[in-house]
Amino acid sequence: MTDHVKIRRDGAVLEITFARPEKKNALSNAMYLAAAEALNDAQSDASARVVLFSAEGDAFTAGNDLADFAAVASGRGEVLAHRFIDALARAEKPIVAAVPGLAVGVGTTMLLHCDLVYLADTAKLTTPFVNLALVPEAASSLLLPARIGHVRAFAMFALGEALSAAETLALGLANKVLPREALLDAAREAARALASRPLGALVATKKLMREGERILGQIARESAIFGERLQTPEAREAFTAFVERRPPDFTKLAP
Ligand code: COA
Repeated sequence: MTDHVKIRRDGAVLEITFARPEKKNALSNAMYLAAAEALNDAQSDASARVVLFSAEGDAFTAGNDLADFAAVASGRGEVLAHRFIDALARAEKPIVAAVPGLAVGVGTTMLLHCDLVYLADTAKLTTPFVNLALVPEAASSLLLPARIGHVRAFAMFALGEALSAAETLALGLANKVLPREALLDAAREAARALASRPLGALVATKKLMREGERILGQIARESAIFGERLQTPEAREAFTAFVERRPPDFTKLAP
């Protein structure tokens, strides 16, 4: 149980809200589990037809809690992101996202599994996996280049280049950019519109549009490498640098 994920129902729409604004909605293990459980429950609950992700505060999410990454890097603890990613990848019902601000790491890669994406004009998407000595996850190494091309995706993964809301829209990764105060109403309206459509046709359409087995296979490949990389001296340096609020120095480390 965590207060950092809020679940609410609006008719047939199940809304999952990241609610840890003081930490930019960084995702802890408890948050991953709560979101995964809600997402999985929605699949088997006949009265839930659409899932909507939203967030409190000025960020969508700063991605994985770096303290949890640091714990794994020093041989303690575990990261349960895979539970959430698996639920996203397997979800059959449509998913809408309302992104108010910064979406880092899994905050961006999860959007590749959403069916409608609404952004505030203050939104910014980044996937700085290589800066953290990590590799892409959530099948983003497959889905992002497929959507925006290899070189743009590589610049995002390897250089940490960000996409503004306008760029995200232009690249076809989002449906609409709205003023911050109009975001949630617009996303909720879209979710309600989807909920009024025939669910069988929606589910079948989503399935036709996604290469489900290929996505799950890529997630498995990524996870194995991601898990190895988390234990490297490079990753330890990246997480220590974040805590110490200094730039990392990878120059003296062997790969
Ligand atoms: N994990 C854990 N804590 C995080 C976090 C994360 N991913 N991102 C932000 N926080 C915490 C900060 O440590 C800070 O906590 P504190 O107030 O107790 O010191 C608080 O959230 C606010 O963050 P801060 O860095 O002060 O805000 P900012 O506006 O200057 O910068 C970010 C926001 C998101 C750009 C910056 O925090 C950041 O780069 N975070 C790391 C993002 C990341 O690499 N995620 C992993 C991707 S795989």
